[in-house]
Amino acid sequence: MKILIADDNHFYRCALQAMLSEWGYEVVAVADGQAAWDILQSEQSPKIAILDWMMPKIDGLDVCRRLRANPSHEPTYVIILTSREGKSNAVTALDSGADDYVTKPFDRGELSARLRVGRRIVSLQTSEIVVYSFAQAVDGKSPYTKGHSDRVKRYALALATRLGLSQIQIDLLRRGAVLHDIGKIAVPDAILNKPGPLTPEEFQIIQSHPLQGVRMIEPLESVRDTIPLIRWHHERLDGKGYPDGLSGDQIPLLVRVLSIADIYDALNSDRPYRAGLSLEASLAVLRKEAAGGGIDPDLVTAFCSIPPEQLVRLGSGVVANRSARTALPDSSSPPSPEALCLV
Ligand SMILES: [Fe+2]
Repeated sequence: MKILIADDNHFYRCALQAMLSEWGYEVVAVADGQAAWDILQSEQSPKIAILDWMMPKIDGLDVCRRLRANPSHEPTYVIILTSREGKSNAVTALDSGADDYVTKPFDRGELSARLRVGRRIVSLQTSEIVVYSFAQAVDGKSPYTKGHSDRVKRYALALATRLGLSQIQIDLLRRGAVLHDIGKIAVPDAILNKPGPLTPEEFQIIQSHPLQGVRMIEPLESVRDTIPLIRWHHERLDGKGYPDGLSGDQIPLLVRVLSIADIYDALNSDRPYRAGLSLEASLAVLRKEAAGGGIDPDLVTAFCSIPPEQLVRLGSGVVANRSARTALPDSSSPPSPEALCLV
């Protein structure tokens, strides 16, 4: 693993370089903050950086602040190195976005242990990046579902905000919405894009995606809390959903919120087998489903109270052939099971 050392003190820089090379790290050493910042912006930048606090040009804390201000930047684990002792200095360093703080003169054993923690966190973050890339790849598998997870996330968060859910619930919902269909990576594109009716075998393959998703996420501790959202987003209050046939209160609140956002986007978007419904028609199907006991009526009422212009804005990117959009089917006819299941 590559590590960046930035320290203007020649003695500390050389000592660290020798020690880390001895421990098997690939080391890049520089003597000021500007050089550190240039390296951290490059492709293949080091995953761990040990930055001295006081350095010429840009100090270590400012390098760290710049890193954190750029969310598209690959995550870098930052340890601030300083001769300043004291709690308030540690807090200042951590407030700049640093992950850890080590005072000089440092102890070999302590630094080695802190780097082990850094390595573990970097590898978790890398796994998480891979998982989110898979989730994006799923959306790209079909032109009909392009951007689906992102829109579902936006609808779900709008509903969560309306319901006054906590920040912790909102954060979990955000991650679960992005990952909810990740198991579709295992579903052949030919089935996802099939314009005609599916055979029972094909339908079964589609319905395996929640459990396929759970299998993918289970080994990853940092996103494991999204499993209920992935596993149960096709469950229904009347027990007719899959894969577990849960009913009523067995389905957690956040799953029910996600499910409404998911169904709305499925109705409002084009599918290989039908054009997307208009906003009004999609909301009417949701109300009808709620009245029939399939989805949560209170949540549907809250969702329908989101101003239409906000829903349109949140749904930007829907692939819709507006001229071919179908009107709401006769209100006496039940919503197509495909509309509610193939999402
Ligand atoms: Fe799904």
